[in-house]
Amino acid sequence: MDQAERLREMVRKESHKIAETVTNKEISGQKSGRAPWVISITSGKGGVGKTNIVGNLAVSFQRKGKNVLVFDADLGLANIDIIFGIHPKDNIDAVIRGEKRLSEIIVQGPEGVSVIPASSGIEEMANLTEGQKLHLLSEFDDLTHRFDIMLVDTGAGISSNVVYFNMAAQKRVVVVTPEPTSITDAYALLKVMFNQYKTKEFSILMNMVKNENEGKSVFKKLSQVADKFLKGVCLDYAGCILWDEYLKQAVVKRQPVVCAYPRAVASQNMGTLADRLLRSVAESDPADGNIKFFWRRLVEETV
Ligand SMILES: Nc1ncnc2c1ncn2[C@@H]1O[C@H](COP(=O)(O)OP(=O)(O)OP(=O)(O)O)[C@@H](O)[C@H]1O
Ligand SMILES: [Mg+2]
Repeated sequence: MDQAERLREMVRKESHKIAETVTNKEISGQKSGRAPWVISITSGKGGVGKTNIVGNLAVSFQRKGKNVLVFDADLGLANIDIIFGIHPKDNIDAVIRGEKRLSEIIVQGPEGVSVIPASSGIEEMANLTEGQKLHLLSEFDDLTHRFDIMLVDTGAGISSNVVYFNMAAQKRVVVVTPEPTSITDAYALLKVMFNQYKTKEFSILMNMVKNENEGKSVFKKLSQVADKFLKGVCLDYAGCILWDEYLKQAVVKRQPVVCAYPRAVASQNMGTLADRLLRSVAESDPADGNIKFFWRRLVEETV
């Protein structure tokens, strides 16, 4: 057994221990009937609306009675702090260094949304020691019972972080706009995820479209190419968010559009998207989708 295999084995054993603990908690009634789902919001190209979608979905889910944790895994400039109007002091680096508990760095966003702030540590996920990874796993395990959904803002592109977070999530929502580069970059992401990580299922969300027809026609083009060149990939249409000036104005106010302009078209689209996603995660296999398994897959893949 080489060193990498030994590490994988350690992580597997530890995560099975964690799995048992959680199952016991569930059996003892602490979180019966609830599974914290992990949904990643991702894209091939930057600037297509991921962070706004994460922020608005988070608030929409909260309004539907779900406890939502946003994990800001995007290190770009336009991160969730901006649209939530928050100023986190710490981030996950402090947890990795063992200085803070995960629960201590979580920041409250609007309407009860919780946020794990971004950090450069995420970029170094692959370089963490096995001890640090196990520590993170157990920290996340402690949080599991508090949330129904974790939304991950992955950042754009096909860098290893984006790919790992998507691979580990239970549901992947790929945001695409009608811009040709957004479509080709989305295809590149699907291709890497499918060919290298055998990830088959993706939800495609069209953003900044003029109308529903435009959204559907871009989705059709993308799925035709995927059907032809990525045999076995399965794309579903998550719907569309129309281009809406109110969304831009909400960003200026540092608020999600569903808070600043609840009756705007984009706000209504976000509500519909939240309903659709809730229905679809409720139909998925619960053993496959919660926070604990997300971290387990993440550390196993990056050990
Ligand atoms: N539906 C929309 N209608 C109008 N403008 C939009 C819409 N969605 C996003 N935008 C605009 O696009 C900008 C970029 O959005 P956002 O920061 O959410 O993208 P991102 O994909 O997270 O970017 P990055 O890849 O840099 O993290 C927003 O500030 C907003 O001005
Ligand atoms: Mg962003």
